[in-house]
This record gives sequence, structure tokens and C-alpha cells, in this order.
Amino acid sequence: MVLKQLTAAAVALSLAAGPVLAAGKAGKVIDYEFSFEGLTGSFDQNQLQRGLKVYTQVCAACHGLQYVPLRTLADEGGPGFTEAQVRQYAADNFEVYDAELDDFRPAAPNDHFPAVESAGAPDLSLMAKARAGFHGPYGLGINQFLQGMGGAEYIASLLTGYTGEEKEEAGTILYENTAFPGGWISMAPPLWGEDVEFDDGAPNTIEAQAKDLAAFLMWTAEPKMMARKQAGLTGVLFLTVLAVLLYFTNKRLWAPVKARVKKGE
Ligand code: HEC
Repeated sequence: MVLKQLTAAAVALSLAAGPVLAAGKAGKVIDYEFSFEGLTGSFDQNQLQRGLKVYTQVCAACHGLQYVPLRTLADEGGPGFTEAQVRQYAADNFEVYDAELDDFRPAAPNDHFPAVESAGAPDLSLMAKARAGFHGPYGLGINQFLQGMGGAEYIASLLTGYTGEEKEEAGTILYENTAFPGGWISMAPPLWGEDVEFDDGAPNTIEAQAKDLAAFLMWTAEPKMMARKQAGLTGVLFLTVLAVLLYFTNKRLWAPVKARVKKGE
């Protein structure tokens, strides 16, 4: 009886608290498909290279990637550049302050992507894991269980979610965006379509560039995702074999006892 009342109270409470827990108008996030989803999904090397290009040519003006070492661009499971390509890319695109020289010099593979503070824009290194695209219902996380956390989906939806509406508030221009919680963001639409030409001739619509960029930021936030999945699968396989062995060992150990019980001894 007490249990029944408690359960009823808990259900009532969670229904009442649900909308409060999910406070703030959550944005609309599209469940884009990504190659790295699922148990065995992996990063698409060409897509990561395209995403890096979008980041470098469009986003890097305002957003840093200060936790990402440039040399990891040559790591296995990543964009898959050669070391020479990374050296070239670093030197061509970034300058870092060198305390020894007391001057700026072209970036080298051992440097990190620079931090950018001038635009008041957040660092993007871990953004794909800092944001969740899917919530609810009622803060229970069921959608996250079914669809994943949705960090990459959120970023892609944010870049494609501008409605074209603007308003000024306290001297700041805000842009209406259907994915941004609250609906108004101070970042002007960064992508307009055909912002970047891809070497592999892949489409460069707003949506295609947004997805490539989101995949790239998923990699910066979780560069070892492939290794982690591999280790997880190996673990599951190992435990399955162990479970089967234990089952037969158990049977065998108890077989004499069972035989005796059957005979009625
Ligand atoms: C002109 C500068 C500028 C450029 C270029 C720019 N951003 Fe931003 N971005 C901002 C600012 C400022 C904010 C903070 C907006 C806010 O919180 O209202 C922001 C916020 C963000 C956020 C965080 C949203 C959140 O949930 O808090 C993401 C993700 C993002 N930008 C991605 C990008 C990507 C990807 C690109 C390149 C395609 C890009 N930005 C280009 C200025 C810029």
C-alpha cells in the first residue's frame, strides 16, 4: 500500500517536474545521419578533411580550437594527413607567439590550434560533447538513449537553423535560430552556401558544409572514438566467450551432484 502511494507520488512528481527540468526553450535539432554513429561506425576521413577546411576558412576567424594539437591531424582515425601535409597546413594557416623568439612565428605540428578570444566566441574543441542535441521527454533522456547525445546534430542544426530574422537588444544584434536554446543567437549566420570549394568535388551547400564541420568537431572532441568502440566490442566479445565457458564449467561441476540427487541418494 505504502509502496503504491509512493509510486503514485513519484510519477506525479516527475510529470510535474519534467517541464521544469527541461527549462528554457530547447531548440529544434535535426537528427542528421553521421558515419560515426552506431556500434561500428567510424569517421569518414574525407568528411573530416572537408570539415577542417570549413573551420579554417570560415570559423577560425572567431573560434579557437586551443585543446587540439595540430599534429593529431596525422593520427590514425582522424583526417589522415601525412606529417608533411600537417607541417604545411600549420605553417600556411596559423601563427603562434614564441616566448623564446619574443615574436610570432608560423605554427608547427607541435603547436596547438590557436585560441581566439577577440570575438567573444566560445572555443570549439569540445563543443560537440559540451552540447546535447536530444533531450526529454521530461528530462528522462530517452531520446538520448535512442538517438545519442546529439552534439554533432546540434552543431549542424545550429548552422542550418537561421530564419533570416534579426533584432537588436541592448546594442547587440541577435539572429533568430531554430536550434539555439531561446531562439536568438549573437553569432551572425557564418555559412551562406559555396563558402568553401572542396577538392573532392563534394557538395558545398549550407547543409553539406554544416554536416562536414559538425563531423570534424565531433572528431576534435573525441579523437579516440574509433579506438574506444574497438575496445568496447573486444570487451563484449571476450565477456561473451567467458560467459559461455562459465556456463559449461558450472554444468560440469554440478553434474555428479545432480546425478546423485536423481538417483535419490
Ligand atoms: C564573426 C565571428 C564568428 C564566426 C565567423 C563564427 N562564429 Fe560561431 N559564434 C560566434 C559568437 C560571438 C558566438 C556566441 C553566440 C552566443 O552565445 O549568442 C558563437 C557561438 C557558436 C557556437 C555555440 C553555440 C552555443 O550552443 O552556445 C557554435 C557551435 C558556433 N558558434 C559554431 C560556429 C561555426 C561552426 C562557425 C563556422 C562555420 C562559426 N561558429 C563561425 C562568432 C562567430
